[in-house]
Formats: sequence, C-alpha cells, structure tokens
Amino acid sequence: MHDIRNRADIDQLVETFYGRVFSDELIGPIFTLVAQVKPETHFPLLGDFWETILFGQNRYHGNVILKHVDLHLKQALQPAQFERWTSLFCLTIDKLFAGPMAENAKTRARTMSMVLQAKLHTLAQTPAHHD
Ligand code: HEM
Repeated sequence: MHDIRNRADIDQLVETFYGRVFSDELIGPIFTLVAQVKPETHFPLLGDFWETILFGQNRYHGNVILKHVDLHLKQALQPAQFERWTSLFCLTIDKLFAGPMAENAKTRARTMSMVLQAKLHTLAQTPAHHD
C-alpha cells in the first residue's frame, strides 16, 4: 500500500469515496436528491480541491463554506451526517492509502468538517436579514 502521490491517486480517492457516499442511506440522498450532484462535473472539481489542499496546487477557486451554507438552507445538515461523511472519507483513505499524505488528508477532512459545522451553527443563530 502506498501514500497519496498524485492526481491519479486523488481521482481514485474521490471516485471510491463518492461511490460510498451516494449509496449511503444517511447522506446519499443529500447528494442525489437535494443537490442532484453530477459526477462528471463534481468529481473533477473535488479532485482540484484535494490537489490544492494536499499538494498546494492552485486549482480550486470555489467557496466550500458558501456551498454548504446554501445546502444547509435547503436541508439542515445534522452532526450525525457530518460524522458519517468523515468516517466514510477516513475509511476510504485507510482502505486505499497509507503514509503522511493519507494522514494529512484525514486531518484536513476532520478539520473542515468542524469548521463547516461551526459556520452552520453560527448561521442558525444569526437572525435572517432582509435587504
Ligand atoms: C454532512 C456532510 C456533508 C454533506 C452532506 C456534503 C454535501 C455536499 C454537496 C451536496 C455538495 C454539492 C453542492 C452543489 O454543487 O450544489 C458538496 C460540495 C462540496 N463539498 Fe461537501 N458535504 C459535506 C461535508 C463536506 C466536508 C467535511 C468537506 C471537506 C473536505 C466537503 C467538501 C466539499 C467540496 C470541496 C465541495 C465542492 C464545492 C464547490 O462546488 O465548489 N464537504 N458537498
């Protein structure tokens, strides 16, 4: 077993992970029904995201927080769903890769999960403004 080395490894990670996510009863429907994510556009975008995070490539220019805020307003994301997301992600990594980069990816995913939840929590406590 080797570490996450390049884009091809990241693509394998993304495809395997989302394969599990889409068929998961707790979070799958958010992707397939609520957001109706299209793998052919979403997977390359996520590859760009992880390439940026792990290898410092300047490829992803989206706003992850905003995407999930929008999603949260459509359907409230629950702590149990974040736990499922991160456990599926870490499980997928452990199945495919081993090494410092693999550990780094798991840490970054857990951190991002906490940051996202904190943001959504703050959002829920902020009164809606109308302008
Ligand atoms: C409950 C947990 C989560 C759910 C249900 C979820 C769901 C989704 C969905 C449905 C989209 C597509 C949104 C759209 O295109 O309209 C998305 C995008 C994305 N998610 Fe998550 N997500 C979760 C957690 C995370 C975490 C922890 C990360 C951090 C690594 C993450 C990273 C991303 C990225 C990078 C995108 C692409 C954003 C873009 O379009 O620029 N997600 N997520």
